[in-house]
Amino acid sequence: MNYALLGRLSVIIFGVVLLPYVLNLINRKFFKTKNKSFFKVVKFLRKLHKPFGIALIVLGIVHGYMALRSFRLHTGSLFYIAILATGFLGGSFYRLKKKELFVWHKRLAAGALYYLLG
Ligand code: HEM
Repeated sequence: MNYALLGRLSVIIFGVVLLPYVLNLINRKFFKTKNKSFFKVVKFLRKLHKPFGIALIVLGIVHGYMALRSFRLHTGSLFYIAILATGFLGGSFYRLKKKELFVWHKRLAAGALYYLLG
């Protein structure tokens, strides 16, 4: 497994982590379906959210180290910092159930997406 492959895998995992939110958003705005199978898929993806989020944090550091063997500030490391903070806030929200933490979890997820595309 080389660092480039690991990078691509991380992007796919990031997509899976975001997918339940994106699917619900699209459904709320456009389709408004109440189809049971749709919600089953979203529920399944929600189950993957936490383990995949944690996997992203682990893979990101391995990928970054393999690519650079050092630390430099660039969109990749900024993306990683955003992922790390997002995961930390997600975990904190899960434990403490404070609404603010969830709001920041989502804000930083949007920030991570920005660095990924940027
Ligand atoms: C690291 C990448 C992560 C990203 C980009 C991310 C992003 C998001 C987003 C956009 C939502 C909103 C879902 C919605 O409103 O429907 C969400 C929900 C949530 N996230 Fe994360 N998340 C990440 C990792 C984690 C981790 C590591 C944990 C916990 C260990 C976590 C825990 C949660 C919880 C508890 C919710 C709300 C309930 C649920 O949808 O399951 N997240 N996350």
